[in-house]
Amino acid sequence: RFIKSLTTSPSSHIVRRGYASEAVPERKVTVLGAAGGIGQPLSLLMKLNPLVSNLALYDIANTPGVAADVSHINTRSEVVGYASDAELGKALEGADVVIIPAGVPRKPGMTRDDLFNINAGIVKGLCEAIAKHCPNALVNMISNPVNSTVPIAAEVFKKAGTYDPKRLFGVTTLDVVRAKTFYAGKAMVPVAEVNVPVVGGHAGITILPLFSQATPKANLSDEVITALTKRTQDGGTEVVEAKAGKGSATLSMAYAGAIFADACLKGLNGVPDVIECSFVQSTVTELPFFASRVRLGKNGVEEVLGLGPLSDFEKEGLEKLKPELKSSIEKGIKFATHYL
Ligand code: NAI
Repeated sequence: RFIKSLTTSPSSHIVRRGYASEAVPERKVTVLGAAGGIGQPLSLLMKLNPLVSNLALYDIANTPGVAADVSHINTRSEVVGYASDAELGKALEGADVVIIPAGVPRKPGMTRDDLFNINAGIVKGLCEAIAKHCPNALVNMISNPVNSTVPIAAEVFKKAGTYDPKRLFGVTTLDVVRAKTFYAGKAMVPVAEVNVPVVGGHAGITILPLFSQATPKANLSDEVITALTKRTQDGGTEVVEAKAGKGSATLSMAYAGAIFADACLKGLNGVPDVIECSFVQSTVTELPFFASRVRLGKNGVEEVLGLGPLSDFEKEGLEKLKPELKSSIEKGIKFATHYL
């Protein structure tokens, strides 16, 4: 891979910050669904990321405008828009990280599972193209229901003979972002210092924030912990209702997606101790996929970390979430088996 020296980079003062070494690798990031509610701000944030050298923006509608707009920003990456199915291969070729926010979002009264029928097909098609054009890319799955779309992606890759569990991630970062914000508000600690692992899955009660492990420590009552847990689990619905039919979280999701993609890039570049929560193939529980803290490295997942000590409330939440998460995983696998 071509290595660009910092000294020749036009934005070297920015580039240097994330790095211990003197060289910044070329990294191509592809966003599938780039013109959507999440896709647009996420494309903007990836354009601001100095670790990205090539930014490929793909959508089946409105790509040229978004790509032209984003491309005028004077940061390192070159931006190319891809507007139709015929151009999908080119958008994916050589990608190091592929982020997928393609698909329909929730409306009030819908669960993430209600999106299954439409989004399962979209994800299947996009993953078939990934298997063909960039089988080694790290795939960041945002499209819901993540609890099912990640197993679908795994089955598509298995069928194509390209599956590497280290390279497939369900993006649950927004749950962590919310847990941190809500915890900081109650614990009266600076939000920037807060860390809260969120495990399980990415829908309703399958989202399990581990506030007993939150730092900085605070002495919150059981009632407050219960309320914080529920608010984290219902955070998406809070936004869906506030948007009243205009979609689900897009701006906070773009932020969360950008954080996760940045962590993947740092891992690929050899930055040590990059840890984020993600929904990945897992042996942490008896379920085949599970979200927990993951150490990212040069090949994607370097280590899936365990749950650590749980409070009784969290242990109970863990047992409660398992049947729902299991059935969402099985639904994804069943869809894939039927259509592949
Ligand atoms: P949106 O409807 O605003 O945008 C979706 C975009 O995907 C549109 O631009 C559409 O043209 C595009 N698209 C549809 N089919 C496509 C295909 N085959 N190839 C490429 N692009 C395609 O929706 P929004 O709000 O951006 O949400 C996108 C997805 O992200 C939804 O499934 C939503 O549920 C999910 N989501 C996930 C979250 C998470 O935490 N993982 C949080 C919030 C939303």
